[in-house]
Amino acid sequence: MKPHKILVTGGAGFVGTHLTRALVEKGFSVRVFDNLDPQVHGIIKGRPPHLPRRAEWMKGDVRDPRAVEKAFNGVDAVFHLGAAVGVGQSMYAIRHYVDVNSLGGATVLEAIVRHRKQVKKVVVASSMSIYGEGAYRCSSCGPVAPHMRPLAQLKKKQWEFVCENCGRSLRSIPTSENKPLYPTSIYAITKRDHEEEFLVVGESYGVPTVALRFFNIYGPLQALSNPYTGVAAIFSSRLLNGQPPLVFEDGRQSRDFIHVSDIVQGCLLALMKPAANYTVFNVGTGRPTSVLQMAELLGDHLGMRLQPKLIHKFRAGDIRHCYADISKIKRRLGFKPRVNLKTGIRDLIDWVRNQKGIDRVDTAFAELHKRGLVK
Ligand code: UD1
Repeated sequence: MKPHKILVTGGAGFVGTHLTRALVEKGFSVRVFDNLDPQVHGIIKGRPPHLPRRAEWMKGDVRDPRAVEKAFNGVDAVFHLGAAVGVGQSMYAIRHYVDVNSLGGATVLEAIVRHRKQVKKVVVASSMSIYGEGAYRCSSCGPVAPHMRPLAQLKKKQWEFVCENCGRSLRSIPTSENKPLYPTSIYAITKRDHEEEFLVVGESYGVPTVALRFFNIYGPLQALSNPYTGVAAIFSSRLLNGQPPLVFEDGRQSRDFIHVSDIVQGCLLALMKPAANYTVFNVGTGRPTSVLQMAELLGDHLGMRLQPKLIHKFRAGDIRHCYADISKIKRRLGFKPRVNLKTGIRDLIDWVRNQKGIDRVDTAFAELHKRGLVK
């Protein structure tokens, strides 16, 4: 049966807002629950203006059992998106990340257990970060799933992987849901916990639950002034402020950049399709793009002649390559990414041009440097 009243935790955030808008448009009744973290939102008093009017607004923290209990009133489906997001920051603000993500997730789960008779579907936001490195192939040894690059190698500025067995260079290949999970940051560990905890509780109580492993999301509304968000927003904000994007390593590291509207498509499929239940899915485009390419594309679209600056240093916890194998979500749910990078970037830039992003990247870099997290 189709759910009627949907709770979206983190519903005022980047993905949450797009999802809420889509759900409202489809005629669902939506309750947005969000603590409006100032690092993401700046200072907002009252109801966030970017939320659709028809959505119900409730300010609250996922760690607060009483607030969460109130948020569950009358709800029959839940998207749990509320989390602290910032890989670099999670490596020093460890208590904060474990507190918000792990304890927050646990608080929401206990509410799901209490309301299990009425909740028909739970969708939890997982992340590609839980893979750590993506999948690779060695021309002689076949598919391999390497762990982190050794520090000694990175200090020599050898960024690419070589095969542990035969020393040949490895080639990055699509990462499927079966790849072993080797999270390389506290953020990623908390996301893996989310995924596993939600699926275990869902299965144990018979509450249909789905975990979506989002790849690197970009698009309008991504917090421009938060130095810990995705690289597309960070670079846009730098460029707008007349600063060159600062690119780690040699810029050839690659990611699967997915437009936020395709993430929403994945969320809606997970909500509506019973075939999604008790399963994890990659949500990406299946195409890799290098970070340098992203910097150049953004510069071109903004009409800026600022060359990206390669800093030949690495950020602790960073992986080299990871892009999605999306055959499972295509086959099981009929997912099809609709927005290519060119169109997606145009959409991001159209929005960015009218924003005032405060570039806090230098402060964030200094923070990471001070703690030895950029080498
Ligand atoms: C991480 C998480 C991902 C999460 C995202 C949110 C991993 C493997 N993935 O992605 O799940 O959704 O953060 O932020 O942990 N870069 C620069 N200059 C910058 C900023 C970033 O060169 O100013 C580079 C990074 O070194 C990295 C790439 O851009 O190689 C992507 O960085 P980022 O956007 O932070 O995302 P991930 O670390 O891939």
